[in-house]
Amino acid sequence: MRQFIRQNRLAGKSIGLVPTMGFLHQGHISLVEASKKENDITVVSIFVNPTQFAPNEDFSRYPRDFDRDAALLLEAGADVIFTPEAGDVYVKNAQTFISVEDLSKIAEGEFRPTHFRGVATIVAILFNLVQPDKAYFGQKDAQQTVVLRRMVKDLHMPIEMVVCPIVREADGLAMSSRNIYLTPSQRKDALVLSRSLKLAQDLISNGTRDAKEVIHQMKLLYNGLQECNLDYIRIVDADTFMEASAIELEGCYFIIIACKFGTTRLIDNCFISMPNGPIFQ
Ligand code: PAJ
Repeated sequence: MRQFIRQNRLAGKSIGLVPTMGFLHQGHISLVEASKKENDITVVSIFVNPTQFAPNEDFSRYPRDFDRDAALLLEAGADVIFTPEAGDVYVKNAQTFISVEDLSKIAEGEFRPTHFRGVATIVAILFNLVQPDKAYFGQKDAQQTVVLRRMVKDLHMPIEMVVCPIVREADGLAMSSRNIYLTPSQRKDALVLSRSLKLAQDLISNGTRDAKEVIHQMKLLYNGLQECNLDYIRIVDADTFMEASAIELEGCYFIIIACKFGTTRLIDNCFISMPNGPIFQ
C-alpha cells in the first residue's frame, strides 16, 4: 500500500479513501462513487475492526463475503481494495490508541463505551497507511463522522472529511450490513425507525419546538412492537452531540435512534437544519 501510494503521489494523483468493514451495499457504493468523482485514485478498505466491538458484540459473526464485495467494487470502479489482516494493522502489544474524549462518551458512547476509541484508532491507522487527500463517510453513522472530524481537526491531519447522505431501501430502512440478521417480522418492525424520523421532521416543520414532545410522539410509534427494544431517541446538537431541549431557529440537529430488534441493534438518524441555522455539512 505504501509503495502504491508513493508512486501515485509522485505522479501527482489525488487519493480518496473509503473505509468499510465489508459486506457492502449501496450505501458503501455511494461513497465509492463520490470518491471517484473527486479523486484520481479511490482506495476502499475492507477490515472488520476488532477494537470497535465490545466482547458481547457481534465481531465474530459480523457478515463477511469478500468475493461479493470485490465484484461490487469492480463494478463501481474502485481502483484498489485494501484488506489487511488484523496482525498487519495492529502492531503486537500496541500501546497507542486514539480517544476523542468527551464526544466518545455520550449518546452512542453510553451504550458502547469503547466503540469510538476503536473507530478513531483504526481510521487514524488507515489514514497513515493510505494518506488520502479526502476520506468518505456516511451520515448513517452520524456520531462517527463528528468524532472523526474532531480527531482530524485536533491532530491537524491533512485530510478532508466528506460526509455523504444516508442511502435507504425503497421502503425507508437505512441500508446496513446488519440488516441481514433481521427475521422477516423484525425487518417489518424496523421500518419504525425511518417512520418515526419522518414523523419528527413533520412535527418540526409544523412548528413543534419542544424536543421532549417530538420524542414522546416518536416513541408512541414503538409501542406494541413485539421484538423491538429502544435504546434511545435523542435530539442532539449536530456539532457537539449534546442533547437539545428545544429546537431553535438558529440550530442544526441530529435526531438519533438506536433500537434492538431481537439481538440486532440498528441505528438511524436524520439531520435537521433550521432556517436561520449555520450552513452545515
Ligand atoms: P461500515 O459500517 O462498513 O460503514 C462504512 C461506511 O459506510 C461508513 O462511513 C458508514 O457510515 C457508511 N454507510 C453505512 N451504511 C450507509 C448507508 N445506508 N448510507 C450511506 N452510508 C452508509 O462505519 C464503519 O464501517 C466502521 O466504523 C469504519 C469507519 C470502517 C471503521 O472501522
